[in-house]
Amino acid sequence: MPLQLAVLASGNGSNLQAVLDRIADGALDAEVRLVASNKEDAFALERARKAGVPVWARSHTAFADRESFDTALVEAIRQAGADTIVLAGYMRLLTPVFLNAFPRRVINIHPALLPSFPGVRGVADAVNYGVRIAGCTVHFVDEIMDHGPVIIQAAIPMTAADSLDAVLERVHAVEHRIYPQALQWLAEGRLKLEGRVVHLASSDKGLAAPQPDMLISPALEQGF
Ligand code: GRF
Repeated sequence: MPLQLAVLASGNGSNLQAVLDRIADGALDAEVRLVASNKEDAFALERARKAGVPVWARSHTAFADRESFDTALVEAIRQAGADTIVLAGYMRLLTPVFLNAFPRRVINIHPALLPSFPGVRGVADAVNYGVRIAGCTVHFVDEIMDHGPVIIQAAIPMTAADSLDAVLERVHAVEHRIYPQALQWLAEGRLKLEGRVVHLASSDKGLAAPQPDMLISPALEQGF
């Protein structure tokens, strides 16, 4: 059974696009039932419409509080028939109202190697700190921001000469590979949680060779 996804995005939606593209080319066994946003002008909504995906867009400023916004969002997601939530540049903290509606079914991508550099400026914080390894993390979402169990991380070497824009571009390129991969593992029922540690059950396909230009743990498989 394909994953039934709701993608939540507040901005550009390049990770949404990567998910849509991997579904279209058959690498990711999923359907996007809804793209939802708290920004009515998010470019992610254009991407969804172009792909024929229903959208739900409401400004959070029209709601009395976070809980009432999340209640409306949960209702829209349920009506759309989605059961797995993909956060893709969604710039709102989720309340327990939301997280309790989809336990262990909310996934996020963060543009840094957690637990380093949580928060909204992950890449800039890493560059300003002067790290030599940038990266990104796909993780289950819990009640603490950028904190839940890690599914996959990718590390990207950098130098002091790299501009913020250059690092952002490289981080995004890798995000677009590891996010669909993490979702495909979820679709295959291969992710097992033990405490906060995520184990990956093996598949018949076996793991692909490690990428020469970056360190990805666990390794990407064919097609990603
Ligand atoms: C990504 O860098 C992601 O890690 C972070 O927000 C950004 C969203 O980019 N959570 P996009 O909207 O998917 O292009």
